[in-house]
Amino acid sequence: MKIPDEFSISRRGLLKAGAATATAPVLAGQAEAAAPAAGPAPVTSLPVTLRVNGKPERLMLDTRTTLLDALREHLRLTGTKKGCDHGQCGACTVIVDGRRINSCLTLAVMHDGAEVTTIEGLGQPGHLHPMQAAFVKHDGFQCGYCTPGQICSAVAVLQEIDQGIPSHVSGDLTAKPLLSVAELRERMSGNICRCGAYSNIVEAITDVAGARA
Ligand code: FES
Ligand code: FES
Repeated sequence: MKIPDEFSISRRGLLKAGAATATAPVLAGQAEAAAPAAGPAPVTSLPVTLRVNGKPERLMLDTRTTLLDALREHLRLTGTKKGCDHGQCGACTVIVDGRRINSCLTLAVMHDGAEVTTIEGLGQPGHLHPMQAAFVKHDGFQCGYCTPGQICSAVAVLQEIDQGIPSHVSGDLTAKPLLSVAELRERMSGNICRCGAYSNIVEAITDVAGARA
């Protein structure tokens, strides 16, 4: 097959192109040698100490490790679930220093020295936390994937109400929030349940709240 003229190359042109290719790495190397020395290598790992479910844990973690991955992949606490991995579902909710957070949205190194409670720390089979028992009693789950996050969130919600922390639907920001369905739905709105067990979840939380009241 004939090669069109625009694609043909002379012998001289071929030699020139070859020489340019062969010398390019040498010239690049000279440029690198002339460049100023780079600064210290970036820190990629740091020691992190957490107190997880009452037990001290010392880890050496890549600074990019989320708290969720530190719990699941490094400490093998797989009760905390990874749903969306970007703060939209609440499956990864744990309690850190008394406040619930999405563990997928925060880096483990930011919590050095923190007290972390996961679903495993709330209760175990045979010694269930009252909220775990209420979820069982009221069928507050179907597949169960969202449930550890729902329960951690629910436990923290009742603490928030006890502490008088208002929500978006609290009518009076200075009064103690009500234990109403509207309050509970609003406060639990960051925890998505694809199985739609919402009404049973609210019943379970109301049951525990009633017992506490
Ligand atoms: Fe963290 Fe969905 S996995 S919010
Ligand atoms: Fe299945 Fe909530 S129980 S997602």
